[in-house]
Amino acid sequence: MSQRVLLIGATGRLGRLFVDALREEGHTVVALIRHEEGDGANSHRRQLLESFSRNGVMIVHGGLEDEASLDRACSGADAVVSCIDHRPDHLRLQVNLAEAASRSGSVRRILPSQFGIDSRLYGDARVDHGDLKRELQQVFATCGVAVTFVHTNGLANEWVGSLGQLGLSAPPREAIEVYGDGIVQFSTVAPEDAARYAVRALTDGQAENRHVAIVPPDNLLTQHELIDLWEAKSGVRLRRLVVPSQTLDARIDSLAQDPAKRPQLAMAQLVRAAWIDGLGDGRRLPDVIELSQLYPNIRYRRASEYLDRYHPH
Ligand SMILES: NC(=O)c1ccc[n+]([C@@H]2O[C@H](COP(=O)([O-])OP(=O)(O)OC[C@H]3O[C@@H](n4cnc5c(N)ncnc54)[C@H](OP(=O)(O)O)[C@@H]3O)[C@@H](O)[C@H]2O)c1
Repeated sequence: MSQRVLLIGATGRLGRLFVDALREEGHTVVALIRHEEGDGANSHRRQLLESFSRNGVMIVHGGLEDEASLDRACSGADAVVSCIDHRPDHLRLQVNLAEAASRSGSVRRILPSQFGIDSRLYGDARVDHGDLKRELQQVFATCGVAVTFVHTNGLANEWVGSLGQLGLSAPPREAIEVYGDGIVQFSTVAPEDAARYAVRALTDGQAENRHVAIVPPDNLLTQHELIDLWEAKSGVRLRRLVVPSQTLDARIDSLAQDPAKRPQLAMAQLVRAAWIDGLGDGRRLPDVIELSQLYPNIRYRRASEYLDRYHPH
């Protein structure tokens, strides 16, 4: 059933993949796009926006802080997907989105920006933006519009390409940090596959007012297994620099002292949650539906296949 879907964050790394996934399912995409300041968009952004207009994406100019633009964007929309980034001040602006969706009278489903480890599994103050994502679940759950919370554990562009050393944009050439014993499993999914599963759930009554997780079974790997995969593929042998949990905790404490280091802090906190605490090892709360089981006809990319992107053939 084709729907009109408002997408927040369409120019972002995950959001642009939702544009493709929504179009593949025959939906009409409305994108809320911020104006660039200064001299206008850089060429990469310009090309992206041109591809949107070539592909029939409808643009509404505005932002999450601009309620009038949100009302225009929500007007007539059947569903809303938010791919706003995890900066706490950005995430929090989704409160305006929940209100606008509720006011619209047309929006019947919202997928807020979650797309990580299910933040209900974190303890308080373990992952800063996780606390906020958990808080926002309450806001969406009570906004009067049906909601689906999508949990992806690690997106492969961040976790597979970096071999688990979050922050690296590609596998390193010489050495890799291994956290703890390197034997805790963590599941990853290619971001384009995450978008395809999520878009399927968007119109599925089974996912209404539910938490859903994407845990493709073949992508549940330890950090050592991930590094082994890369070494076998590339022929490179990496020095494995063991970072014990106490060292990682000291790093987290030190990063927390400096507000300018917030992105690095978030990465260190996520590394701990994944590779030490095992919060993305396939465990799930009883109310969670797993989407690779629910939609077995969606073919997902294996981590090994994803690594081919980093290996010149
Ligand atoms: N599980 C994982 O491994 C993983 C990895 C990465 C991300 N994520 C999650 O995925 C989600 C999306 O993250 P991302 O990395 O794709 O983010 P991103 O690349 O930084 O993109 C953020 C998007 O939000 C838009 N935006 C920012 N502020 C806005 C505002 N006030 N109003 C309207 N739009 C605004 C940006 O627009 P402009 O282009 O105008 O700036 C951009 O399109 C987050 O929930 C994040 O935590 C998960």
